[in-house]
Amino acid sequence: MGRLDQRVIVVTGGSRGLGEAMSRLFAQEGAQVVLCDVRDELGEAAASSITRDGGLAIYRHLDVSQVADWEAAVAEVEGRFEKIDGLVNNAAVLGGGPLLQHTMDAWDRVVAVNQTGTFLGMKHCIPAFQRNGGGAIVNISSCAGIKPTPGAGPSYAATKAAVRLMTKSIAIDFAKQKIRANSVHPGRFQTDMSVEIGDSISDAVTEATPMGRAASPREVAYAALWLISDEASFVTGAELCVDGGLTAV
Ligand SMILES: NC(=O)c1ccc[n+]([C@@H]2O[C@H](COP(=O)([O-])OP(=O)(O)OC[C@H]3O[C@@H](n4cnc5c(N)ncnc54)[C@H](O)[C@@H]3O)[C@@H](O)[C@H]2O)c1
Repeated sequence: MGRLDQRVIVVTGGSRGLGEAMSRLFAQEGAQVVLCDVRDELGEAAASSITRDGGLAIYRHLDVSQVADWEAAVAEVEGRFEKIDGLVNNAAVLGGGPLLQHTMDAWDRVVAVNQTGTFLGMKHCIPAFQRNGGGAIVNISSCAGIKPTPGAGPSYAATKAAVRLMTKSIAIDFAKQKIRANSVHPGRFQTDMSVEIGDSISDAVTEATPMGRAASPREVAYAALWLISDEASFVTGAELCVDGGLTAV
């Protein structure tokens, strides 16, 4: 028996990195996973690979910043599986660097994906949870949403902090409707995004981490698995740091 048997779970940014790792783990625990992303080729390949390994996974194109994409995706998933039990808002992009070099276009893009995308995901999936008698949300924030990374610039930290408090706000408002919302705050883990951030910032984060290393995506995925499962049935509005001790310092 799996920890997520019969659950239908939407994972944004599911084509690679943590999104792919969570999708694979959830499918191994019995969930029907819907991977959503804008990297269609990678997403199709990830869903096929999970299916080949015995899991239930499909891929669907979804730009998290677009209202019409959310409307269509939720209608399609409900039409096909008759319900949605869980949502992981994981899609995100890095910021435009330090303040004085930061362009307006970069600011708008980071806010649109990281913050508006998370807002829209919750806004469109919660009515589906209500129709189904409950649901669980896991929002992937970052340690940077609690304690900014030196040199990484303001937009990533600002949007990840917004995700942290949006999660708590939704947790309070929907607690009586059996809808839980929690945030995960990873430290550095090894993906394309951690490569994009650059060696000097990545090395500084690892050095500041008491465990002295980066995580694997799977180590972070296990935290999301617990929060989205019924094992966390009395946990809502919580922030779970998966950071090797970084925010404890
Ligand atoms: N990698 C790290 O060290 C680290 C640390 C802390 C937090 N995080 C957070 O973990 C999450 C996953 O990060 P990752 O390292 O796997 O990143 P990644 O870049 O490997 O994956 C992010 C995915 O989001 C997708 N995406 C981007 N814009 C999108 C949009 N508009 N609509 C839908 N999908 C979109 C990308 O195509 C990609 O597949 C992110 O929320 C990130 O902020 C990462």
